[in-house]
Amino acid sequence: MEFYNFADHMNRSEYIETHKERFLEELFDLLRMPSISADSKYKEDVRKTAQFVAESLRNAGADNVSLEETKGNPIVYGEKIIDPSKPTVLVYGHYDVQPSVPDELWNTPPFEPTIKDGNIYARGACDDKGQFYMHVKAFEAMMETDTLPCNVKFMIEGEEEVGSTNLGPYVRSNSEKLAADVVLISDTAMIANDIPSIDTGLRGLSYVEVEVTGPKIDLHSGTYGGAVANPINVLCTMIASLHDENRHITIPGFYDDVEIVSAEDRDAMSRTPFNLDEFKAELEVDDVMGEAGYSTIERTGIRPTLDVNGIWGGYIGEGAKTVLPSKAYAKISMRLVPNQKSERITQLFKEHFENIAPASVKVKVTPHHGGEAAVTPTDSKAYKAAAKAMEKTFGKTPVPTRGGGSIPIVALFEEALGLKTVLFGFGLDSDAIHSPNEKYGLFNFYKGIETIPYFYEYFSE
Ligand code: BES
Ligand code: MN
Ligand code: MN
Repeated sequence: MEFYNFADHMNRSEYIETHKERFLEELFDLLRMPSISADSKYKEDVRKTAQFVAESLRNAGADNVSLEETKGNPIVYGEKIIDPSKPTVLVYGHYDVQPSVPDELWNTPPFEPTIKDGNIYARGACDDKGQFYMHVKAFEAMMETDTLPCNVKFMIEGEEEVGSTNLGPYVRSNSEKLAADVVLISDTAMIANDIPSIDTGLRGLSYVEVEVTGPKIDLHSGTYGGAVANPINVLCTMIASLHDENRHITIPGFYDDVEIVSAEDRDAMSRTPFNLDEFKAELEVDDVMGEAGYSTIERTGIRPTLDVNGIWGGYIGEGAKTVLPSKAYAKISMRLVPNQKSERITQLFKEHFENIAPASVKVKVTPHHGGEAAVTPTDSKAYKAAAKAMEKTFGKTPVPTRGGGSIPIVALFEEALGLKTVLFGFGLDSDAIHSPNEKYGLFNFYKGIETIPYFYEYFSE
């Protein structure tokens, strides 16, 4: 990467315009790196990606850039303190990505970024490389045009997609170093490119794996079938029983702590721009399904859910093998809303799942990572600065929305650092994050780079 220093005569938008091709080339270099945190095979690639991010922060003008070692993947830190009496923005993002499998469903290779119809196709294009890199380039543009109005600290981690297990301890033991006035994160979506929005909440997560064991070994399904419990049949029955006919979750105590959203807030949600027919058409489903008494937006925004993420067992090879399997497995996630505690929900699930198991099988429930829900204020100086920034560049006031996904670290920032977050996301739900053919719009990438500096400006006023 080269360092450019002929910007004296340029204002910020000219600077961005002049360098936009290079910004994109740099993002492409970043997207070529397979920083898959879930698969230890990519450990070296993950580290190289961290080094790339560190280098890009240095080139953009950050000081004290370092790879902060953890038990897992390094956290990239960098800062620019222009005046300790000025406010400080803590930018968080993640350079790790989800696995790209199934690779055969990609139209172009996941780690060879390709532009088609104004979109960048690559794993991590939107989640979160394309989005956090906007912050690096917005920072560069402010540095190069002398328009950075406050202090900034960057913390870009490499384990978000696997639960941020080592970030918590790092944040707790570095609270002074990370001291700031607000956390700024671009890792969420807007309603549409002509309907900007800002998420004001994220759901929590409880994630478990279950194992159901029937007979000690796989058996002949003719000799024994009908007389011995089939763990796959049993697992399916057990899973089916976790919802009632109204699609309420049947785990006792599951809803005890669920935040009751006021009629006023629900009324506001009902005015969120949303077209159910377009939603169905986009997903190629003839109908939607969810908890009775709630709209689609409420089902993903303010209600907890339970979903099977994967289920396996028995014979899945070619042809037919008549077998009564010994074991069946499933991975189950529960999305949680404010006040539900992921640890308690995991415990309730475990007790219930063990209780409903027939005597003919044994069950084992193993918890995976979890995280708490978060709500972010809309009356804060930071939210107002973000809204004003979007208004400036989109020509429209952003709509406050509730996001259905999870960024568990947001709750931790509040607990450990006392900091509120602004979820300044520029993606779209249709960007296919975690799916084949993930994409990010060129419009969104450049709009983010243009908009972010206005946030700094308004937040520092
Ligand atoms: N960027 C997403 C979170 C997200 C997705 C927010 C969609 C808003 C809309 C993040 O990288 C992510 O994938 N989070 C995981 C949880 C994590 C603990 C693995 C998720 O939501 O499944
Ligand atoms: Mn993300
Ligand atoms: Mn993700």
